[in-house]
Amino acid sequence: MPTKKTTQTTESKETAAKKPAAQKAVKADKTPPRTAASASAKKAAPVKAAESVKRRVLFVSGEVLPFVGTGGLGEVAGSLPQAINGLNAGYEVRVILPYYSLVIPEEYKKDFVFLGSITVHLSWRSQYCGVYEYTFGNVRYYFLDNEYYFKRANVYGHFDDGERFAFFSKAVIDVLPLIDYFPDILHVNDWQTALVPIYYKLFYQYQYRYCDIKTIFTIHNIEYQGKFPKECMEDLLGISSAEYFSLEHSGNVNLMKGAIDYSDAVSTVSPTYASEILSDYYAHDLAGVLAKNRRKLSGILNGIDVNFYDPSVDKALFANYGSGDISGKVENKIELQRMLDLTVNPDIPMITVVSRLVAHKGIDILKGLCGELLASDVQLVILGKGDAEYEAYFAHQQRQYPHKIAAIIAYNKDLSRKIYAAGDIFLMPSKSEPCGLAQMIASRYGTVPVVRETGGLYDSIHDCGDAGDAGNGFTFALYTAQDFLHAVHRALNLYKNKESWNKLCAKIMEVDFSWNLSAREYIKLYDATLNR
Ligand code: GLC
Repeated sequence: MPTKKTTQTTESKETAAKKPAAQKAVKADKTPPRTAASASAKKAAPVKAAESVKRRVLFVSGEVLPFVGTGGLGEVAGSLPQAINGLNAGYEVRVILPYYSLVIPEEYKKDFVFLGSITVHLSWRSQYCGVYEYTFGNVRYYFLDNEYYFKRANVYGHFDDGERFAFFSKAVIDVLPLIDYFPDILHVNDWQTALVPIYYKLFYQYQYRYCDIKTIFTIHNIEYQGKFPKECMEDLLGISSAEYFSLEHSGNVNLMKGAIDYSDAVSTVSPTYASEILSDYYAHDLAGVLAKNRRKLSGILNGIDVNFYDPSVDKALFANYGSGDISGKVENKIELQRMLDLTVNPDIPMITVVSRLVAHKGIDILKGLCGELLASDVQLVILGKGDAEYEAYFAHQQRQYPHKIAAIIAYNKDLSRKIYAAGDIFLMPSKSEPCGLAQMIASRYGTVPVVRETGGLYDSIHDCGDAGDAGNGFTFALYTAQDFLHAVHRALNLYKNKESWNKLCAKIMEVDFSWNLSAREYIKLYDATLNR
């Protein structure tokens, strides 16, 4: 049975990465998706037996669900540590994040336990940092409190985000004696926590109790690097300007660049993206830095929380269903058509999009084919927020074709699951996609993904062919509206053959997008990093 590709070190891809076109470069390694059945039948590589003393990981993230989440990072930070601890494979992962007191739901906050406070010194600032502890599922969480920095309605997007996350990163290391948890590995994520390995190597690695901590930096999206003017070094980050050379990139302080250089291992969220970011097309100016660090770069495909995203029990749905009987999907479709004031008719194919409305998610080529698509007998449901240009465009289309297109300009987790369940086809034409979770969620809800062959989309969705019996979706390679439209038309053609279509829907629901295999890959990464 087919398997999805979950991991790869870039060292093994050297030849592929050297090819000029990144898409071609990754093509050779394509493997078909795996199914839940195959995952259990074909036993994954054995993991080390649980040891009485577990090795310790402190997982550091600017957002962690179910407490706070603005995107994929929150989902991964919420589900990966739970999955690793669930394996009982010799590691304990604990998680640390800012205490966003206005955002974290009361149902959790009310049970937080106050552990104490420290003063964090950074440049000329001395700031209070309170520490709360909470256990959820099989993971212990620490929340770092400073009202000035984190008592805000929005998690990111503030003028002083650099200062806020410098404080958080320094506090993460300073707080270890208070929480009495000196980890073997500090596993940090994205630019907001990139200063952790930098501070560690600059200030802590030779201190009593701090020595021998390894650092892993995971890139969830290379586009956001944490760039600041040189003048910020001493005043904001508390790092001597004599160190400028090690954090400088293209004339700025670049925290992602610093973390790539300073960490013991660097990972990203799919094997293909790990190859892609070695080329300028995808690397947003960091290809050279990554090439230099290639020996410590790897890619591990994300999973999703399959217990949360489970159409057979999901309370957000109008009707529950499973792969054995997908008739409930029709009920979801009819109810959503009613709710969104679309023509109520289960036979009209419903094409869905749940995405940030920004160009690199492929929304520009979606816009390019929208007119032609709406000329045929389809419905289009779009959920997301983003650039004003796209928001206005889809709102305008909705006014033109009120019973054919519904554009909901919002983030709404409940509605998103109604859409995943009701849809027939799910579009994800990203220009680049480090991993992407929506295609996996759509698949779990039996909605056939149409994706561009890039990053994690390439590793998780494989073309099913015109007869629909090969892979688990429809894919296209070239980033053009024509190629995208062609793939959508292939899906619409198969949709006309109800028997083949329903078979495909049931089959893709069985693909195993859980963390089962990938959590084991993280264990291997942890083992390898500790042995470096
Ligand atoms: C970012 C990436 C997305 C990935 C997610 C979790 O949001 O854009 O592709 O799935 O992080 O790693």
